[in-house]
Amino acid sequence: MSLPNTAKPRAIGQILFEQGFGTRRDCAGLVAAGHVSLQGRKLDDPFEAFEPEGLSLTVQGQPWQCHEKALVLLNKPAGFECSQKPKHWPSVLMLMPPPLRRRGVQPVGRLDQNTTGLLLLTDDGALIHRLTSPKHHVPKVYEVQCDREVDDAQVQRLLGGVVLDDDPEPVRAEGCERTGERALRLTLVQGKYHQVKRMVAAVGNHCTGLHRSRFGALSIAPDLQPGQWAWVDGLAAILGEAQTQSAPGRPKPTAAPSGGSERSERGGSASPR
Ligand code: URA
Repeated sequence: MSLPNTAKPRAIGQILFEQGFGTRRDCAGLVAAGHVSLQGRKLDDPFEAFEPEGLSLTVQGQPWQCHEKALVLLNKPAGFECSQKPKHWPSVLMLMPPPLRRRGVQPVGRLDQNTTGLLLLTDDGALIHRLTSPKHHVPKVYEVQCDREVDDAQVQRLLGGVVLDDDPEPVRAEGCERTGERALRLTLVQGKYHQVKRMVAAVGNHCTGLHRSRFGALSIAPDLQPGQWAWVDGLAAILGEAQTQSAPGRPKPTAAPSGGSERSERGGSASPR
C-alpha cells in the first residue's frame, strides 16, 4: 500500500479531505467559504498547496493539527464502551471529533464500560497490532480499588502468577504495590479480557473501581479532563523514545508522559462538524 508522501505539498482542499473534514466537495466549500485559516490568515483558494504534516489550521473556529496518522489519548470517563457497535452504553467514539471518527480511529485494546483513564485511539492498523501484540509487552498501569483489605499474600500471588479460567498458563503482574488499605497499583504487559478484575478475584478480593493511569511512557496530564483527548506524537512517545522538543507552532502539550518531557498535544473534547 502506498501512503501519501507527507513531505509533498498538497492542495488545502485535499489536505482537509484526508484529515476527515468531509467529501472533497465539502472541503473545497469550507475553504471557499472562508472557514479555514492558517496562522491567522484566512484561506480562500482550495488549491493553495501546503506540506500537510504538522500544519496548524483553524477550521470553523476550531484549532486543528494535521497528522497523516491519527494517534490520540482519551481520558476515558465511566459509562462508555470501547466498541464501534456498543450494546448498552455509548461508544467512546462519540467522544472523538467528527474528523477523527470519519478517519476510522479505533481504540487500542479495550477498557470496560466502568473503567476510567488512559485509552489510546488511532487509525493506524499496524500500530494497533504493534501495541496489542503480546510479543511486544508494553506495560499498562492500573489503579485498583478493592472491596476488601489488600494484604501481602495477595500482592505476592499477583506478582507470582495466578491461573485464570480460560487459560492454564498463569498470568502474573509485572508490578504490584499496595497503595491503600483497599487499593492496589498493578502493572500488566498483557491485555486479556477483564484481566485486572479476574486477577484480583483469583486472589480472593473484588475490584470495585478501576482506572488506567499509564500506557507505556504515557500518562494523563492533570488538566486533561475526563472525556477530553490529546494528540500523541507516535509510537516513540508511547515507548518513551520521543524527542523532548515540541515542534514549533504546536499548542501546549497536555498529555505529558512520565519523566517530565512533553510528547503529546492538546486535542480537546468532541466538537460539532
Ligand atoms: N482489566 C479489566 O478487568 N478491565 C479493564 O477495563 C482493563 C483491564
